[in-house]
Amino acid sequence: MRFILAKDATDVSQKAYDFIRKSILQNPSLTLGLATGSTPLELYKLMINDYKRGNISFKNIRTINLDEYVGLPEGHPQSYRYFMDYNLFNHIDIDKNNTKVPNGSAIDLNKECEDYSSFISKNVQDIQILGIGSNGHIAFNEPGTSFNSSTHIVDLKESTIKDNARFFDNETEVPKKAITMGIKDIMGAKMIILLATGSSKAEAIYRAIKGPITEDCPASVLQSHPNTVILGDHTASFWIRVNREPD
Ligand code: GLP
Repeated sequence: MRFILAKDATDVSQKAYDFIRKSILQNPSLTLGLATGSTPLELYKLMINDYKRGNISFKNIRTINLDEYVGLPEGHPQSYRYFMDYNLFNHIDIDKNNTKVPNGSAIDLNKECEDYSSFISKNVQDIQILGIGSNGHIAFNEPGTSFNSSTHIVDLKESTIKDNARFFDNETEVPKKAITMGIKDIMGAKMIILLATGSSKAEAIYRAIKGPITEDCPASVLQSHPNTVILGDHTASFWIRVNREPD
């Protein structure tokens, strides 16, 4: 695991995009694992701007998203499919048939999970982008999730519902369940880039990098991945910078 200290959120996004850009120029049909949340938004803007300037094409890439809420009606503005279309896919030349987001409205959710994991094993992510939850979750793999998990349905923790309530009119509207790539699906990626910005991530970043590798902090599993880069801005890297355990 490599940790890179970035100045601020813009620098985190730019550094992440530098990796992605270089890889796409080398392999225009690569598979990119994508994340939602507020953290990668600036990265997606950089991708859009670079495309609009005619510097890059995403025509032949394939994308696989980490997760989706269960039970939001199709087209709901807080669904992760909508988020990806609105914040990235609608603005670049990607073929939407090559963009995959779990279907949280599938009638048979267990089958959706099995199919999703099997799809990932056949389309391994060349680069997987990750954010991190304030409790150390990656995708929607909450503390306690088995490192051996494939795509599955989760009950969201109270802290995650609270964190994500800011995107909904009120907390009661946040779905209680989600479908998420499992930790094994994520760890299969050839390269992982985790982005962290803001002080609310500082404790999770410390535990992910310096803490024990434990299912209590799902992101700590990344210490055992052969090619992971963690990009943290100044505030998210606070405990790493002062080099002591969070109070
Ligand atoms: C959600 C997503 C995660 C994301 C996390 C952090 O829980 N499932 O993939 O990493 O939020 O989001 P944010 O970047 O908004 O802090």
